[in-house]
Amino acid sequence: MSGLFITLEGPEGAGKSTNRDYLAARLREQGIEVLLTREPGGTPLAERIRELLLTPSDEAMAADTELLLVFAARAQHLAGVIRPALARGCVVLCDRFTDATYAYQGGGRGLSLARIEALEQFVQCDLRPDLTLVFDLPIEIGLARAAARGRLDRFEQEGRAFFEAVRQTYLQRAAAAPGRYRILNAAQALAQVQMDIDTLVPQIVELCRG
Ligand SMILES: Nc1ncnc2c1ncn2[C@@H]1O[C@H](COP(=O)(O)OP(=O)(O)O)[C@@H](O)[C@H]1O
Ligand SMILES: [Mg+2]
Repeated sequence: MSGLFITLEGPEGAGKSTNRDYLAARLREQGIEVLLTREPGGTPLAERIRELLLTPSDEAMAADTELLLVFAARAQHLAGVIRPALARGCVVLCDRFTDATYAYQGGGRGLSLARIEALEQFVQCDLRPDLTLVFDLPIEIGLARAAARGRLDRFEQEGRAFFEAVRQTYLQRAAAAPGRYRILNAAQALAQVQMDIDTLVPQIVELCRG
């Protein structure tokens, strides 16, 4: 038995966490076992690495350090949570995964694709998400929603060009592999986004049972 690995991607304030919980509820109604998790983090040790990544600090973090910490947290998360859950046959709903590394460390920070691909292969071997939902919206809307949440983290303090690059990287990756990605218009009212998610539920149920 092997589960299904679904990731939710998009910028800050896109609605990933809100809609992850919504999708989980719809799948559980169908009797599907769902595990909710997030990156960076997802285990106690990986959450400590998350703190390092998100907490603003006087010492500037080198881009390579950031990349390695993201993948260090991911290795821990895969070993401790994701792979065991998939082996049990769970649907794993993960708020951000390696597409975020391509978007933030690749698009945002400008790190080379080849390096990210090398680390992806090293840490994940052949594991890739079965399905990735990209919550897309104009960056101003996402930043306004994130700002309403309170103090900005180390990434949320970045500028417009950074977030525009993040957005474009997500859209390019989705366009390059349309079988694996679904782009959702996250600028819509939440009820409409959730209606779009409702239309995906039968497809996901079929993937689980097929
Ligand atoms: N479609 C939407 N329209 C308006 N507000 C939204 C929508 N989706 C989410 N929100 C709100 O925006 C904020 C950020 O949502 P959240 O799910 O935490 O986003 P993310 O996890 O992508 O950062 C929350 O306060 C949430 O209630
Ligand atoms: Mg969130």
